[in-house]
Amino acid sequence: MAGPTADLFADEALQQPASREQIGEQSWVLRGFALPWIDRLLPELRSVLARSPFRRMVTPGGFTMSAALSSCGALGWTTDSTGYRYSPIDPNNQQPWPALPDALRQLAEQAAANAGFADFAPDACLINRYVPGAKMSLHQDKNERHYTAPVVSVSLGLPAIFLFGGHARSDTPQKVSLFHGDVVVWGGVDRLRFHGVMPIKNGEHPIMGAQRINLTFRTAG
Ligand code: SIN
Ligand code: FE2
Repeated sequence: MAGPTADLFADEALQQPASREQIGEQSWVLRGFALPWIDRLLPELRSVLARSPFRRMVTPGGFTMSAALSSCGALGWTTDSTGYRYSPIDPNNQQPWPALPDALRQLAEQAAANAGFADFAPDACLINRYVPGAKMSLHQDKNERHYTAPVVSVSLGLPAIFLFGGHARSDTPQKVSLFHGDVVVWGGVDRLRFHGVMPIKNGEHPIMGAQRINLTFRTAG
């Protein structure tokens, strides 16, 4: 008896976020949406990072980013003194980025669908690692070729205060607390909204340790 019931429950857990908060016309926080995926996702993440480890990148302005970055998927996002761009090659080893693993892809597709974006086909997953004190300044995701697909952002580990701004850098951002397993999806009319992350507070997450890892899925090419 327990078997079928447990399976049915697991299937529903994959579809239904514990709760869904609307933060924009076409923007949603799916609370705990990634939790049922964690056991499949962490080993995938580990093997991606074994091939393309985290590294600190430099912005075109000459600043070293406080978050450490890696990527998987056909295209990886990189920055150096010459600019921001997507590349099929990891500049650290001159090899293609690791392929986008199955559970990561399925999680991103299902989260997008849940937020009203059917047929999301991500080809890029940026992996950000924040240790306490690391942050992400307000920016728009606009290195992608088209803006028709949403951005799907998965939070793991230490909590963060996500800043969700408007279409102008000067618009006062909403502050949204994000926890392990939360997924944010923004697209459509909200696709180019400014966003960022406030400095991560000290702490120790029971599964992830003293860090926050964020996975950002996009259709870039
Ligand atoms: C990003 O915008 O690339 C990262 C957002 C986040 O870490 O939540
Ligand atoms: Fe971003």
